[in-house]
Amino acid sequence: MTSPTATPIYPVVWSVDHVQLIDQTRLPLEFSVVEIRRSDDMALAIKTMIVRGAPAIGVAAAYGMYLGAQEIQTDDRDTFWEALEQVAERLQATRPTAVNLFWAISRMLKVAQQSAGTVPEIRAQLLDTAQRIAEEDLQTCEAIGQHGLSVLPEAPEKLRLLTHCNAGALATAGYGTALGVVRSAWSAGRLARVYVDETRPRLQGAKLTSWECVHEGIPVTLITDNMAAHCMQRGLIDVVVVGADRIAANGDAANKIGTYSVALCAQAHGIPFYVAAPLSTIDFSLADGSGIPIEERDPEEIYQVGETRLCPPGVEFYNPAFDVTPAALIAGIVTEHGVFAPQDLDAKLRSHQIA
Ligand code: MRU
Repeated sequence: MTSPTATPIYPVVWSVDHVQLIDQTRLPLEFSVVEIRRSDDMALAIKTMIVRGAPAIGVAAAYGMYLGAQEIQTDDRDTFWEALEQVAERLQATRPTAVNLFWAISRMLKVAQQSAGTVPEIRAQLLDTAQRIAEEDLQTCEAIGQHGLSVLPEAPEKLRLLTHCNAGALATAGYGTALGVVRSAWSAGRLARVYVDETRPRLQGAKLTSWECVHEGIPVTLITDNMAAHCMQRGLIDVVVVGADRIAANGDAANKIGTYSVALCAQAHGIPFYVAAPLSTIDFSLADGSGIPIEERDPEEIYQVGETRLCPPGVEFYNPAFDVTPAALIAGIVTEHGVFAPQDLDAKLRSHQIA
């Protein structure tokens, strides 16, 4: 599914007895891999965003659970279970918004809880489950990419698609959600170019999404976040596709800070705005987006660029990492099971019993 010349990007890889993470804090200047052998190191890697993006941190946390299970020195099932719950708590405390993290950890806990096996057997089942979560995510993203083709506007010319942040291979087990749609549109010959918001303050658009596009040979134009409305007004954008970190039952979708403004701009210009995400991103326990926890990060991300401080002492900061786009602004949610209108998500998925 990727360009025949580009090597696939896998940000979280199991290798014999440890996990290899692409260090996303060093891209695009340096491609380096970090070896993770302990659950606490995995928790730190998630917190410091060596690995980031909702599905990718789910996969990483699942492996973190297995590494934690390996660290528990007992063959007594009850003692093992108590210690495993503590590993889960430490991994859960890393990042609050992306529900995939909690989804993957609870799937791992369920495997351990429901197993009739010995502790060594449970450990083996946990590794198997983590690997399955990674493989399923890859297939899920490829399916999202294919379903995404059906929502792209029909036009005589090839399309110009805007995306925000990085919902690419780096943010998943590989391939990507929003960038999965980009990849399949590019392979199908329907894409002229991707416009990428730089995505202040951590610049995932500039550093990661543009890197992925260049890697695949997909034409890419980087803009600063405050240029999106202008580009839409000038007729440069045909469709917007973004990822999500958590989607409430009514279709309200949390994604990287700035996504909401892009959705408002798209509505003002009559440009369709789609969210591409796996079912593991949907949180049916939340009726709407007001209950989605929004991570606040270190203010240094706002005021410091390299060695340079951007503002005088005495200024206060507010650094929310995500915002919630109301369902009313979303034309459709592209999942591995097809495309749903946000208001139909809950009923349709429940009636198909696939949620
Ligand atoms: O803070 P990040 O870089 O983890 O935020 C990532 C995003 O907001 C992505 O758009 C989202 O996780 C979707 S990833 C397929």
